[in-house]
Amino acid sequence: MTYRARVVVLDPVSADALADLGRDHDITVRIQPAHEELLELAADADALVVRSGVRITGDVIRRGSRLKVVARAGSGTDNIDLAACREAGVQVFNLPGVSAPAVAELALGLMLAVTRNIALADRQVRGGAWNKPQLAGPVLHGRVLGVVGLGPIGSHIAGLGLALGMRVLAAVERPTPERDEELRLRHIERVPLDDLLSRSDIVCLAVPLTAGTKNLVGAAELARMHPRSYLINVSRGGVVDEEALLAALTSGALAGAGLDVHGRESGTPALGALDNVVLTPHIGATSTDAQERVGRLLVDDLRSVLAGADATNRVC
Ligand code: MLT
Repeated sequence: MTYRARVVVLDPVSADALADLGRDHDITVRIQPAHEELLELAADADALVVRSGVRITGDVIRRGSRLKVVARAGSGTDNIDLAACREAGVQVFNLPGVSAPAVAELALGLMLAVTRNIALADRQVRGGAWNKPQLAGPVLHGRVLGVVGLGPIGSHIAGLGLALGMRVLAAVERPTPERDEELRLRHIERVPLDDLLSRSDIVCLAVPLTAGTKNLVGAAELARMHPRSYLINVSRGGVVDEEALLAALTSGALAGAGLDVHGRESGTPALGALDNVVLTPHIGATSTDAQERVGRLLVDDLRSVLAGADATNRVC
């Protein structure tokens, strides 16, 4: 029989997963605690469960003298100090791609919301005002969609764009002849990032946040986009220089933006006051289907690690 481990859950995960895990282990749920409390919680934990809302820094890892695993109930690991985990022998796993369809559908929702001014129209109707000409925006059919990053999420977004009759361009980090052939068969044109920015009506960012993608889109990149184009970011706030984005949106250099980022990542609150911006609080993966699947896989991998084995999706 496995021992009852102490599992500390720091970001919302599905109720079924918690109930399942709670049969074998002792669960403490503290959603997004302040850093001091996090240190206290880590001191006593065998496992920490996070999504993207909590930073697992080196001091948290070092405080966890009995810590065996940090489980990322999502795809990225940018909020976890992997070097500290390696040094302390703490296993880390994530669940790449599980939420990709959900995130891609949110990207589509943001594209529609921002191009057709859905949120603005909603506010106008509720406020008793009708300014239909202000609400006009392009249909997506026939427009050019540029997808930056063709991992599971970007690939789904490209598929949705094609299904809508959009022309799809993609910028990928490591092209190969096989990949190019696959893209050709899917009618996706691979282009360098600069070309994608200047040719797209909608640019959709679907890259993980890493040292290499931090501020990937800054003033110079935004200047390449044409003034009727839109930027959608379903990755993380840090991929875009938000000061530069604010300047582009207020000067008319860009038509609008849809951003699915954490509130705390949006260092530019003024973005939220603009009518041509739709902001959501990093809810791409927050679909019931995705969270159920994530929950099941999370429980399986946690059980393996706590029983002394390796997680299927071990990162380090
Ligand atoms: C992911 O990487 O899948 C998401 O960021 C998870 C989340 O909702 O935090």
